[in-house]
Amino acid sequence: MTNIISYDERIKNFDWSISEKELDYQPGNDINIGWYCSDRICKLGKADKPALIWEGSSGQEKRYTYNDLRLTSNGVGQFLRDLGIKPEDRVCLFMDKIPELYIGFLGVLKIGAIVQPLFSAFGDESLIVRLENAQTTAVITQRKHAPKVRKILDKMPYLKHIIIVDPDPAKPLGEREVAFDMDNAPKPENFVIFPTKAESPSVLHYTSGTTGQPKGVKHVHYSLISQYLTAKWVLDLQDSDIYWCTADPGWVTGTSYGIIGAFSNGVTQCVMDAGFSADNWYKFIEKHRITMWYSAPTAIRSLMKAGDEVIKKYDLSCLRHLASVGEPLNSEAVIWSEKVFGKAFLDTYWQTETGSIMISNYPGMKIKPGSMGKPFPGITATVIDADTFEPFGVPGKIGLIAIKPGWPSMMRTYWRNEETYKKKFKNGWYLPGDRSSIDPEGYFWFVGRDDDVINTGGHLVSPFEVESALLEHPAVAESAVVSKPDFVNMEVVKAFVTLKPGFEPSKDLDLEIMNFVRKKLSPLAMPQEIEFIETLPKTRSGKIMRRILHAKEWGEEIGDTSTLEND
Ligand code: PRX
Repeated sequence: MTNIISYDERIKNFDWSISEKELDYQPGNDINIGWYCSDRICKLGKADKPALIWEGSSGQEKRYTYNDLRLTSNGVGQFLRDLGIKPEDRVCLFMDKIPELYIGFLGVLKIGAIVQPLFSAFGDESLIVRLENAQTTAVITQRKHAPKVRKILDKMPYLKHIIIVDPDPAKPLGEREVAFDMDNAPKPENFVIFPTKAESPSVLHYTSGTTGQPKGVKHVHYSLISQYLTAKWVLDLQDSDIYWCTADPGWVTGTSYGIIGAFSNGVTQCVMDAGFSADNWYKFIEKHRITMWYSAPTAIRSLMKAGDEVIKKYDLSCLRHLASVGEPLNSEAVIWSEKVFGKAFLDTYWQTETGSIMISNYPGMKIKPGSMGKPFPGITATVIDADTFEPFGVPGKIGLIAIKPGWPSMMRTYWRNEETYKKKFKNGWYLPGDRSSIDPEGYFWFVGRDDDVINTGGHLVSPFEVESALLEHPAVAESAVVSKPDFVNMEVVKAFVTLKPGFEPSKDLDLEIMNFVRKKLSPLAMPQEIEFIETLPKTRSGKIMRRILHAKEWGEEIGDTSTLEND
């Protein structure tokens, strides 16, 4: 039996108090995600249940029970408190998918500090803008990533501590560095958890927007109410499940469902900290007997590309439920998964700002391959006209996705950027910045984003951030960044570049510029293609017409070019 039982029944008279009651939370009481994800599960009698089974790139394994999670995160909290970290200080987690990332997350929350997860492949430029905006007090990292932090230390007077979880015993620690071996540190049995309340800040995730400046999305401890119930009803997490969320906790799926949703539901989850290959993934599912698998369209398309033969080598009969998020899940991928795994991936739609699943397919509900499904119970979502901001009520008509504010895991603001936050609301609706239509049966069909942000392999990249990085290269005079179609990643970053006098296009320069962006920003933001051109299309007032370059890449009509400079 599935947790949701019946979608149609659940949407009737839905109230978030259903989740509050299940979590024994009374409005006004303390609510701490760290406690709910470890101590509470132990109190429910599951102290010895495996919580986290971790596998590294060479197949090494580490296991933690819920009691281990509780005690080790207490140890993290104690260590941070002793260092002088205070409630609401920002503590950045800058690590690969190692156990310290998952346990550190809970430990930071237990002392009322704010977790700032950052993707470990970020380069120094990506790192500094995010640490500067958050005025981060401490970074918890691995020795392999510490050099990137050291490089920018001079520019960050507010950063007091660099905590290294695996220091090299043969080398002395650097300036502001301190060693912390989480597994072997003292683990206080009776740790006093900071009494956070519903509106106490919890997580600060950075997301790319339409400007070069990433936005810090501020969440609060009350987000648990949404994350717990959506994980239970959509991901259908049950006591006997072995769950695998393939997302990295540097991004929101990896925290909302790779940590909070999973542990607050008391399931056993497996984490694989290794590169992607179809064999590796299937082997992992078979070995750990994964029952619930939450992944992303790019990964699913990569598996499709690897073919059906490889699947036959493994016994994947353990899988009982699959879901996907992050980018459009094409109908071919849904149909393929049903054919090869005997189960369709259920598409789920949401974003960093919403904190939890907004529109989704549900166990037991009819699936229409290619559709994102219907709003989660308690979520009022529709599509509205882009000019009047009024709902259409006309099936099939494309408009902006609009959601009535007020669900528990809604972001509370953009960090030090209230102005941009306010712009996300129109006529009483929250606008995620996506376009969709709704069919007569109420299913949402994703059309595309309503801005220039590129979604490559489920990761948002700001074209402006890439353009700024390109301009720092000595050979680049001007640049324009757009997306181009790609079978696996759906879209990838493409840069058009004009060169400064004295520089000639060449394969070497091409690679050098790509590498320059990769190191500064991240492998995700690195252009997959650079086209050197003489001039960029511009309006008469000198603005680059990215729209023309975009249309060319996607084989679309170019549209009105009356303002083009050299027309
Ligand atoms: O454009 C939508 C797309 O990803 C954006 C959110 O990205 P991010 O904040 O990084 O969070 C990703 C994981 C929750 C959305 O505004 N997106 C997300 N899910 C889907 C999607 N596009 C189409 N279909 C989806 N299921």
